[in-house]
Amino acid sequence: MLEVNNINVFYGKFQALQGVSLTVKKKENVALIGPNGAGKTTTLKTVSGLLKPISGSITFNNTRIDKFPPHQIAKLGIGLVPEGRQLFEKLTVYENLLMGAYLKSGSEIRDTLEFIFQLFPILKERRNQLAGTLSGGEQQMLAIARALMLKPSLLMIDEMSLGLMPKLVSQLFKIVERIRDEGVSILIVEQHVESALKMSDRGYLMEQGRIVLEGTGDEMLKSEYIRKVYLGI
Ligand SMILES: Nc1ncnc2c1ncn2[C@@H]1O[C@H](COP(=O)(O)OP(=O)(O)OP(=O)(O)O)[C@@H](O)[C@H]1O
Ligand SMILES: [Mg+2]
Repeated sequence: MLEVNNINVFYGKFQALQGVSLTVKKKENVALIGPNGAGKTTTLKTVSGLLKPISGSITFNNTRIDKFPPHQIAKLGIGLVPEGRQLFEKLTVYENLLMGAYLKSGSEIRDTLEFIFQLFPILKERRNQLAGTLSGGEQQMLAIARALMLKPSLLMIDEMSLGLMPKLVSQLFKIVERIRDEGVSILIVEQHVESALKMSDRGYLMEQGRIVLEGTGDEMLKSEYIRKVYLGI
């Protein structure tokens, strides 16, 4: 479905991604893990079209997308839940969701809203509340819900659980699994290495702009390097 092939991405003279390749297959749940500054957000931004690789290619359902603008990539079915949520704080929950649906028609929006409110009943309850006054967990739910408004077939989530308490994190992981069960592929960037790998079909470890390890979720969890450096066991 998604094929990132040997991309190199720069910020000015600084090379943030060095020959990065990764794939996400249909209905797969893939985790991208790695330390701060490794290039995880850069990878998601490049797939979304917010950054352009100077070489390499990205294809989605066999269409080359690496020169497409972000809105066109979104329209093809790639959704991004950005790091830091980036909600419209002065708009209500409902208005934030409508902003996420900018490419869709009225009837499609109604159907999608129904699905989203089923997934996140709390958002239905609070649909007229300003997004900036939601709790951290509710804001993260809204950020995911907003990305779902475009009915993506691939959902990329950047640092979903940052700053949230463990109970909420496991609740969000369960919701991500439900989204995957609806047939949406997932590419998730996570600090919670163990939880992310447990729920993933495959994982990639990125360090200093390169993929240094890849395998099934189980293989990654058993890797001595990951256990020592990332799990502390
Ligand atoms: N706009 C920018 N201008 C210059 N350098 C940048 C910019 N954004 C990121 N970088 C650099 O690129 C590298 C990769 O950053 P990136 O945000 O992709 O890392 P990350 O893996 O998402 O880290 P974190 O886990 O802290 O979110 C870092 O060295 C960072 O300082
Ligand atoms: Mg990041």
